[in-house]
Amino acid sequence: MTPHFGNTGMDKKPLYLWCAYPDDLLAEEVADACMAVLNEEERARVQRFRFERHQRESLATRALARTALSYGRPLSPQAWQFKLNAHGKPEIEPACGLHFNLSNSLGLVVCLIAEGGEVGVDVEPFERAEQIVKLAPEVFSAAEQAQLETLQGAEKLDRALSLWTLKESYIKARGMGLSLPLDKFSFLFGGAEGVRLEIDASLCDAPERWRFCLLDHAGHRIAAMVERTETGDLELLEARPIGAPPVRVSAGDMQWFPRV
Ligand SMILES: CC(C)(COP(=O)(O)OP(=O)(O)OC[C@H]1O[C@@H](n2cnc3c(N)ncnc32)[C@H](O)[C@@H]1OP(=O)(O)O)[C@@H](O)C(=O)NCCC(=O)NCCS
Repeated sequence: MTPHFGNTGMDKKPLYLWCAYPDDLLAEEVADACMAVLNEEERARVQRFRFERHQRESLATRALARTALSYGRPLSPQAWQFKLNAHGKPEIEPACGLHFNLSNSLGLVVCLIAEGGEVGVDVEPFERAEQIVKLAPEVFSAAEQAQLETLQGAEKLDRALSLWTLKESYIKARGMGLSLPLDKFSFLFGGAEGVRLEIDASLCDAPERWRFCLLDHAGHRIAAMVERTETGDLELLEARPIGAPPVRVSAGDMQWFPRV
């Protein structure tokens, strides 16, 4: 994708997870530079948010996507055009072989970019775990809940956070949002695979189509779902401030599944 990070081997396609921090936009010159790469519609959308922290989150997400994609193709950040699929997933228009997906929180925004295959990503702050445990009966499958119920304390919170981000990354990779029933697919922990995806036949998909990873960064759990093309290892890149050249950072304990 970019000459200075292109060390993924001859037969491996690049896979990049870009990270940026909405608080960098507290610096006026950084916020102005980010606004300048958005189109009119995106600017209006940012300004519609009532609270400044939500404006920063939205601005950071869109500015990060545009600047990150420009490392993948010789196009300026302003020049990218997007269309939404029927469920609101932004896609590059016209298609250029790159796939991307975005996720945001108040403290961290991420953009996952791959050559050739669909991707989905989700980021959640660690402190959301307790709230997620309370939502478990509504959002997790019976099999996921049964596994969750065997856990206690910190382990239970950790599992809930992983389940939520993994499920969200799957529905985002499929591009179908919550029209995909959350109880019809499961991430089951344990065994040789480490984590196994099971999908009900009604969802017309096969677990073998996907590989996925979990990692922690800057106080957040991140799940990335990647269609099984010949993608290389995931590289974690930080743009600080947003729009600055990326710096490669190491991801604490990144784990890919299924392991076998
Ligand atoms: C639409 C949905 C993708 C939004 O997720 P979210 O957690 O609110 O937001 P995220 O920060 O992860 O992602 C937002 C980004 O996803 C992208 N997105 C929107 N619709 C999408 C879709 N159908 N598929 C993939 N990506 C989508 C957009 O780029 C959006 O950012 P933008 O509006 O700034 O461009 C959807 O998954 C949803 O509504 N989830 C609700 C939460 C829930 O109940 N999850 C259950 C998990 S067990």
